[in-house]
Amino acid sequence: MTNIIAIDGPAASGKGTLARRLAKALGYAYMDTGALYRAVGFEVLQAAGRDPENEADALAGCVALAAKLGGAIGTLALANPELRSEECGDAASKVAAIQSVRDALLDIQRDFAANPGEGYKGAVLDGRDVGTIVCPNAPLKLYITASLEIRAERRMKELQLKGKLVTKGAVLEDMRARDARDKARAAAPLRAAEDAIVIDTSELNADQVLETALEYAKKAFLLS
Ligand code: CDP
Repeated sequence: MTNIIAIDGPAASGKGTLARRLAKALGYAYMDTGALYRAVGFEVLQAAGRDPENEADALAGCVALAAKLGGAIGTLALANPELRSEECGDAASKVAAIQSVRDALLDIQRDFAANPGEGYKGAVLDGRDVGTIVCPNAPLKLYITASLEIRAERRMKELQLKGKLVTKGAVLEDMRARDARDKARAAAPLRAAEDAIVIDTSELNADQVLETALEYAKKAFLLS
């Protein structure tokens, strides 16, 4: 079995930064599963008159994205900086609450975990349900969290660095609403897998989180 590290957690908890750095440090491939949901949300927002909470519209977004995936256009679609906007995050969490959308995106994630590509020794995936649904047998599962206040602060800085004019209050409210939706939904709600290691990053910087996770990875995969 491939060495798989599943990383889940709420918005702006630091899981994306950790997942990317962990993958690099270990020579594993990395998949940001949230980008798939954001890309579906983006396709829905692009199509005039469509609603991310409407199942038919959300599925049409999946079809539009599927047509791009698998080639260079797909790589560009998932790397589109517009996906990082709060508007896309909000649309992502709306389409992500629809079971048929989740079903449509499941195989892509599982295929990636099973076949991360030539030269990679394993795979790191981050999202909301990687440890619970996508890769329930992953040997290492991390649940990365932090206080709402700290997460809002981090997301505000991330958005400001990109030149977006946002207030902390507005970011905090958006995040609170999105977390509540992600946790309350019937389809793959956000929660830590029973065997996940919980890391609260409120008081840790990115290097400390990486060091902590690397220690767990060494134990899980018997790395030296
Ligand atoms: O970067 P951030 O943590 O704010 O969000 P993201 O990981 O890009 O995910 C955006 C949205 O996609 C989340 O709010 C979830 O609703 C949804 N998502 C999901 O349902 N399942 C995943 N595996 C990943 C993301």
